This record gives sequence, structure tokens and C-alpha cells, in this order.
Amino acid sequence: MGDIMNEKRILTNEILLEDNIDNIRPQTLDEYIGQSEVKENIKVFIKSALIRGESLDHVLLYGPPGLGKTTLAYIIANELGSNIKTASGPSIEKSGDLAAILSTLEPNDVLFIDEIHRIPRYIEEILYPAMEDFYLDIVIGGEGTSRNIKINLPRFTLIGATTRAGDLSSPLRDRFGIISKLNYYSEDELYLIIKRTSRVLNTSITDDAARELAKRSRGTPRIANRLFKRVRDFALVNGDGVINTEILNDALSRLKVDKQGLDETDYNLLLSIIEKFNGGPVGIEAIASSIGEEVSTIEDVYEPYLLQNGYLKRTSRGRMVTDKTYEYLGIKK
Ligand SMILES: Nc1ncnc2c1ncn2[C@@H]1O[C@H](COP(=O)(O)OP(=O)(O)O)[C@@H](O)[C@H]1O
Ligand SMILES: [Mg+2]
Repeated sequence: MGDIMNEKRILTNEILLEDNIDNIRPQTLDEYIGQSEVKENIKVFIKSALIRGESLDHVLLYGPPGLGKTTLAYIIANELGSNIKTASGPSIEKSGDLAAILSTLEPNDVLFIDEIHRIPRYIEEILYPAMEDFYLDIVIGGEGTSRNIKINLPRFTLIGATTRAGDLSSPLRDRFGIISKLNYYSEDELYLIIKRTSRVLNTSITDDAARELAKRSRGTPRIANRLFKRVRDFALVNGDGVINTEILNDALSRLKVDKQGLDETDYNLLLSIIEKFNGGPVGIEAIASSIGEEVSTIEDVYEPYLLQNGYLKRTSRGRMVTDKTYEYLGIKK
């Protein structure tokens, strides 16, 4: 059942992201800023599970990249006092891969599967009995001698993360007791996240500069932190290390991040709809090929923010820019 190498590749108990190295990632629910509705609910479910002495129900977290899904999964495990094992949808290529992961679980463990929508459907079926009744139904033996065996699993909590809840099959979605959507952060919340990052990284930022950076971070903590680090470089090299508004504005214009946080790709996307497709409606595939991006990147990363902020509209005949877009870009219709 899955060789050791395979298991090593899929089961990483720590992920060596930049964020983890410099501790930017919050570790507790209290440190996790914003998403208050999701947070308050999860707090209750965790407390109740702890009082009952049982594992937490399975949790599905969805929303655009960089909003804190992975962070929240780690926090949940931490608050439960449980071990976390992680895997990601694309790394699960055979039924044996998933069976191997499941068979290493211990009571009350958290299994975090990132990009869970990318597990192939026929492999995903292994999860159904595992999630619902805590057993593994596997086939052993070769041709002619194969038979099914059932292996009992301990009670565990599956946390799935996805940018696309719509791509999840309904049998899988229905097996999550807790389904939470993460939303873009407000400027006030991003301001607090930036202030926190400033403390963790030991780099001062003035209040004005922090407000301005919050406004230009596309509602996304990952972007706020990434820009913070790049602006810090400019502050160190061109200034005295303190991030003030002047240094911030200069750095962000070099990084091609505009007043509202739109970047080069956002501009390419909007301008291509205006210049090549007369403002739309135009199909997503045509937009993707005209700007050289993947359809899925546009759908998962760029479009949600532009839609939410009224720079883009989705119609049955395709995507369109809006009056606001023309006005914002200073282009006559
Ligand atoms: N609620 C939050 N409070 C503070 N920092 C956050 C929060 N959510 C995300 N972050 C920061 O943003 C980074 C990206 O979050 P992550 O959990 O990796 O997003 P996702 O998994 O949704 O793509 C994290 O490393 C963390 O530093
Ligand atoms: Mg993630």
C-alpha cells in the first residue's frame, strides 16, 4: 500500500514556505485577523469538540488564494491540540497514495488536503467511507486474486482547502460538516495585519504608510505581506529602514502596483478587453490567450477581485468591462 518514498513526498508535516520561516503566519485564532464570522463559528465548534472529547467535524475552507486557508487549517489543528498531516490534491495520483496517507492517521489527527478539488474523481471515492464511517475500503492482490478489505480508521478531521468550491463533487462537498468561505479583507483588517507583520519582521512602518499599503493590497494578506517585504528592501537601501509614505509610494510604483492595488496583469486583462474586444462581452478563453495567462489563473486569482470591485462584469455571453473601468483607466468609450 504505497511505498515509503511516495508517502514521504505526499506527507509533509511542515511546509517550508517563506511565511513559516519568519513566523508571519499567525498561530492562534486570536492572532488571526478578520474573517470574524468564520472565526467565531469555528471557535465554538472547536470548543464543543474539546468538551465532548471527540474529533472536530470535517471542515471545507474555500476562497481566492492568499486569504488564509492554509493558515486557518494550521490554527485549527493547533487549537485542537492535534497533529496535522498535509497533502495536496495534485500530488495524489493513485488510490494507493490516498490510502497510504489515511492509514497513517492517529486518533483526532487533522489531515489537511490543499487544492482538494484536484483529486481525480475515482480516487476521491476513497474519501467517502473514510470521512463518513472512518474506514478504508481497499483492493489488494493482483489480477484474478484481488479482493476487497476493510480497514478501520481512527476518528480524524479532514480539512480541505480549495479556490473553487464549485469544482468539488457534491458527494464530497456533502461530507463536510463545516463549510466556510473566506472573503477579501477590509482595509482596516489589512492595516492590522500589516502592523502585525511590521512587529514580527522588526521593521517600522508609519501609520500613514500602513494605511496606504492596506489600500493597495488587493484585499489579500499574502499580497500585503509580500509587498511589505519588497518595500522594506527599498526602505533599507534608499532610506533609514523605516517605511514611510514616500518610500512606499516610490517602491509600489516601481513594482507597478497602482492606487487601488491593481497590478500589471489586471491592467493587461482590462485593457485587452477594451482594446481587442471592444469592451466585451468576450469569452474567458479568448481573454486568456490574448494576455498569455491560464484560464484557471484568471478565474481563481484575478477575476474575483475585479468582479467584486466592479471593474469587470460577468454575463451569459462573456466578460465585460464597466463604465467604472473606462473612467478609472481614463479611456473614452
Ligand atoms: N487572518 C489573517 N491574519 C493575519 N495574517 C494572515 C491572515 N490570513 C492570512 N495571513 C497571512 O497571509 C499569508 C497567506 O495565507 P495562506 O493561509 O497561505 O492563504 P491561502 O492558503 O488561502 O492561499 C499567510 O502566510 C499569513 O502570513
Ligand atoms: Mg494555501
